[in-house]
Amino acid sequence: MTEDTPQLCLNAKVMERNLDRLATFAKENELSFRPHVKTHKSKQIARKQMDAGAVGVTVATLDEAEVMIDAGIPSVMVAYPITKAEKIARLKTLAERAHMIVSIDTTVGADLLSEAFVQESVDVWLKVNSGLNRCGVEPGEEAAKLAQYVSELPGLNLTGIYTHAGHAYGATSEDERLAIAKQEAESVVTSAGRCEDAGITIPHRSIGTTPTVFDAGVYDGVTDIRPGNAIFYDMVQVGLGVAKPEDCAVTVKATVASKHTNRLVIDAGSKALSLEKGAHGNESVVGFGYVAEHPELMIEKLSEEHGVIPIDPDSNCPLAINDTIHIIPNHACVTVNLFDSYVVSTGEIWSVDARGGSK
Ligand SMILES: Cc1ncc(COP(=O)(O)O)c(C=O)c1O
Repeated sequence: MTEDTPQLCLNAKVMERNLDRLATFAKENELSFRPHVKTHKSKQIARKQMDAGAVGVTVATLDEAEVMIDAGIPSVMVAYPITKAEKIARLKTLAERAHMIVSIDTTVGADLLSEAFVQESVDVWLKVNSGLNRCGVEPGEEAAKLAQYVSELPGLNLTGIYTHAGHAYGATSEDERLAIAKQEAESVVTSAGRCEDAGITIPHRSIGTTPTVFDAGVYDGVTDIRPGNAIFYDMVQVGLGVAKPEDCAVTVKATVASKHTNRLVIDAGSKALSLEKGAHGNESVVGFGYVAEHPELMIEKLSEEHGVIPIDPDSNCPLAINDTIHIIPNHACVTVNLFDSYVVSTGEIWSVDARGGSK
């Protein structure tokens, strides 16, 4: 096993426990489990998710989809509008190899896909905006209108409605987080109900974001969950109160490279930990990661290859040059994307197969 640092460490036991919790929740609530693989970008982990009962995976990019199909994943939901000609051509090739589901949230996007799939046809899910204000039509009336439009186009099978309540990451209280979970589920279920009133059947109603998954998933009428981060968790999730440091499966191992009276310098900078401090207004994290062995220490600043940890000159900091520490990242998904491979607690090395696959 490589000893050099910085390295991305994966605690397989913790990951299995997180996966088991998600899979059991899905089974107990009769939900399809369609995890988002942008978190781990790994064939190995995707196969473990399938073995645990996932019906397929969710991806953000066609690069991720290609890697997952190469890994033998039979069904892939592309939770992103595919509109460029180059991407539509790639999607068509992928649809010959696996069951594909594609996101739609505009009439223009629907027209482009319809033209391309007029012969073969493809499954599409309509995206509704549950408050994040990113992609997605407004739930209810607007969703039903777009559903009507899509259902009359050749080549498109409308089989689902979905949303992503990423604004839950900005929740500043438990009440606010729970209110967002309710709004997330309602936006999907209400929109599906409107479509069904108009005679358009919507079998799949999908929600998915880690801070709300266990709350929105139990809402009556939801059939499908797409959590990503919950396989690993991180300090943002700890800050939101949905995980504890011991639930976090990935850490960055770093070495003390320099020590001065008032600071340590470690070999993990922004190219190992990322500068993330949480999305959508989250202000719960302190510094650039949590030092597992020394929670009293704070990573105050990062440059590309340096992390700086202030120390009290009178406190006799026990860390010396060449000592190592494990850091729980603020945002596991972006940290993983900075490494080629995981050093797994089992002694294996697993590739971050879709690393950098942003197309
Ligand atoms: C469309 C969609 N679904 C699901 C997810 C998973 O969210 P999380 O990582 O919070 O579980 C994301 C994350 O960006 C997303 O964009």
